Amino acid sequence: MLKIGLVGCGFMGSMHAACYKEIPGAEVVAVADIRREKAAEISGSTGAVIFENGKQLIADADVDVIDICLPTYLHTAHAVLAMQRGRNVFIEKPVCLTMEEAEILRKTAQETGACVQIGQVIRFWDEYKWLKEVTDRKEYGAVLSAVFTRLSPWPDWAWEGWIHEADKSGSMALDLHVHDVDFMRYLLGEPDSFTSHAVRDTRGVIEQIYTTYMCGKTVVTIEGCWDYPSSFPFKAGYRVKFEEGTAVFDSNGLAVYMKDGSVVKPEIKPAFTGRSSSGGNLSSLGGYYNELAYFVEKLQKDEPLLVAPLEEGIRSAALALREIESVGGAQN
Ligand SMILES: NC(=O)c1ccc[n+]([C@@H]2O[C@H](COP(=O)([O-])OP(=O)(O)OC[C@H]3O[C@@H](n4cnc5c(N)ncnc54)[C@H](O)[C@@H]3O)[C@@H](O)[C@H]2O)c1
Repeated sequence: MLKIGLVGCGFMGSMHAACYKEIPGAEVVAVADIRREKAAEISGSTGAVIFENGKQLIADADVDVIDICLPTYLHTAHAVLAMQRGRNVFIEKPVCLTMEEAEILRKTAQETGACVQIGQVIRFWDEYKWLKEVTDRKEYGAVLSAVFTRLSPWPDWAWEGWIHEADKSGSMALDLHVHDVDFMRYLLGEPDSFTSHAVRDTRGVIEQIYTTYMCGKTVVTIEGCWDYPSSFPFKAGYRVKFEEGTAVFDSNGLAVYMKDGSVVKPEIKPAFTGRSSSGGNLSSLGGYYNELAYFVEKLQKDEPLLVAPLEEGIRSAALALREIESVGGAQN
């Protein structure tokens, strides 16, 4: 049994706890949150021991893995302590806020030999996994162009509003946008060039970004935004133009519009279906379940973490940070 210590029991920590409950061979045995009631909620359903804060859990809990679901500005310090303590580590995305932090993480992982996975969850989302597979095997020919979108109303759940402070989250251009930046890199490799344009709020913080990339001859555009009105439903999807057809994933599902006029509806077999032991619909756990199940399986089998290792999380954050720099910083 892989013993998990969960650090940060807010929005993502609760999601991770719900996933671990359904993953055979893993158990959340320790939880920490400076808001004790948040830790108590998860402890109530798992029996996990409660620690007052992340550093105390890392120092004292008897665990194999530290799973870090803290606000982004706290990731590096906690991940370093966890690796130095001899633990394997899962770090939510974006892995860190600066390239200086990235270097510290890289160095510590090398020195300690810790296995580190980053929460670049889109790589594990069924419709995006499908896109990666058909692209790799050139099922519809080469990719000519692609559009990815991730559009959200204002996120209002974060502890003390940390997510809206540019020096704590890096702004939406790091926090939300890194999902699609990462998936684009996974699909097509490092872009040769890019041009970004940002929309800012009255404080000068980026709330929306449009970036167009050249990956060889392929043109890719990503739009990310998280200050659409509260009545606006969250939307994420893609439109990918292949030589032989165009794949579209949106709120209507997945379809491929073929050059000959036919429409193909690929059958996606969710990695996990049915109802969870806690009563929720397992498919609602989506890629979060898949990424943690993968992490647990690889650690149990002592196999390398190939899909979203530390280095990939760092490279995706690095590209988002270069975009932010190109438009004058996360806040101006
Ligand atoms: N993969 C995704 O789709 C996704 C979605 C949302 C957030 N995230 C990422 O997950 C991370 C956490 O975000 P969130 O939305 O859960 O934030 P949140 O504010 O809901 O939760 C953070 C929790 O950390 C706790 N905390 C703060 N300092 C602590 C400390 N020293 N020790 C222990 N607990 C402490 C807070 O009390 C809070 O409960 C961020 O990096 C964020 O970018 C990822």
